[in-house]
Amino acid sequence: MIAADGSGAVAGAGGVLAGTDAAVAGGEPMIKSYQFSAKASATTVPGAYQSAVQFGPLIVQSTATTAAPLSALMLGRPDDFHVHLRDGAGLASVVPFTARQFGRALVMPNLKPPVTSVAMAAGYRDRILQALPAGSTFEPLMTLYLTDRTAVDEVARVAESGFVKAFKYYPAGATTNSDSGVTALKNVYPVLDAMQRHGVVLCIHGEVTDPATDVFDREAIFVEHSLAQVVRDFPALKVVVEHITTREAADFVSAAPPNVGATITPQHLLYNRTSIFTGGIRPHFYCLPILKRETHRQALLAAATSGSPKFFLGTDSAPHSRNNKETCCGAAGCFTSHAAIELYAEAFDAAGALDRLDAFASRFGAEFYGLPRNAGTVTLQRDTWTPPEEFAFGDETIVPLTQGRTLAWKLQ
Ligand code: NCD
Ligand code: ZN
Repeated sequence: MIAADGSGAVAGAGGVLAGTDAAVAGGEPMIKSYQFSAKASATTVPGAYQSAVQFGPLIVQSTATTAAPLSALMLGRPDDFHVHLRDGAGLASVVPFTARQFGRALVMPNLKPPVTSVAMAAGYRDRILQALPAGSTFEPLMTLYLTDRTAVDEVARVAESGFVKAFKYYPAGATTNSDSGVTALKNVYPVLDAMQRHGVVLCIHGEVTDPATDVFDREAIFVEHSLAQVVRDFPALKVVVEHITTREAADFVSAAPPNVGATITPQHLLYNRTSIFTGGIRPHFYCLPILKRETHRQALLAAATSGSPKFFLGTDSAPHSRNNKETCCGAAGCFTSHAAIELYAEAFDAAGALDRLDAFASRFGAEFYGLPRNAGTVTLQRDTWTPPEEFAFGDETIVPLTQGRTLAWKLQ
């Protein structure tokens, strides 16, 4: 069982995955090899493991061949360090999904108008809390939208607020509601300097916006130029490269000092760019940064399952109404909150790395942000289920990324 403290075991189908336990070196638990001792049981059907392999768009393949499948997985209650909850009626529709799975979530500020001050973030946070189901203990962690006009004084207010955990840097025009984003890095240097001094985290949407740059190259070019520049000029600034999608970004973050981390979404672990065009054009697979080649997906999966504390969970669940996705110029964003932890479990399972999911989902992000681990646990069951084809979204509907397929793991 991989328990909340990372030291437990996973209940198998009649067997137990017993950890050789986390050897702690320099305070960093390193999960060593696990030996699975499977006992024959009426419910153990090794072939059923292959049901994780789905139709067309899903490209994961099970790598487990010999051991009987694990039937349950207990994790510390996870955190989502990148989510879009929207506002108004849409907020009320989607926030219960995030609150059901996660103890906390870092809420992106790209509303209309964007959340640019601690005062605005306080109001947004109250609206999120009001939209929570009764009895929920979910804690929204807020972000401010960095603009060319962000005042240096706002950084101290963020540091004192307790509930605003980061600034979000959108290069102007990079993605949904990014018109107010930063037009040149140098414009925000005084603010970045203050963030570095106050220990405030900078979350970066890492894409260049030059319309002449190929959409598939935008992240790698940003990493090479802008990201490298920020990390060089502000060596003590805590930086999270959001929703990384390329080998270049994963390599950069791996090689950077410990104050540089990255979030990885479920869609970028499970799909590649061919998924967007399988049997026709599939708007619900379109997000920014866009899905990349298979080699990049593999690099991201390797990073996420590497056990490095630099890589942690951030879904980038980004709901848009069906009408705004299934149209001649569809919006960017995949909705995954209804099944986020299940999708990550599928990716880690396919990589034979379920023993690494607890740290990725429930520990490394909190550590990066200097937060305690959540109380409590969640349990995933290996259980085939089919999520709904659509969900209410205010008076419209959202189509989830999982449309038309079954999942192999289910949150209890
Ligand atoms: C996000 C959204 O819709 O707000 N869309 C997306 O494709 N990821 C914005 C973002 O995070 O880029
Ligand atoms: Zn996002």
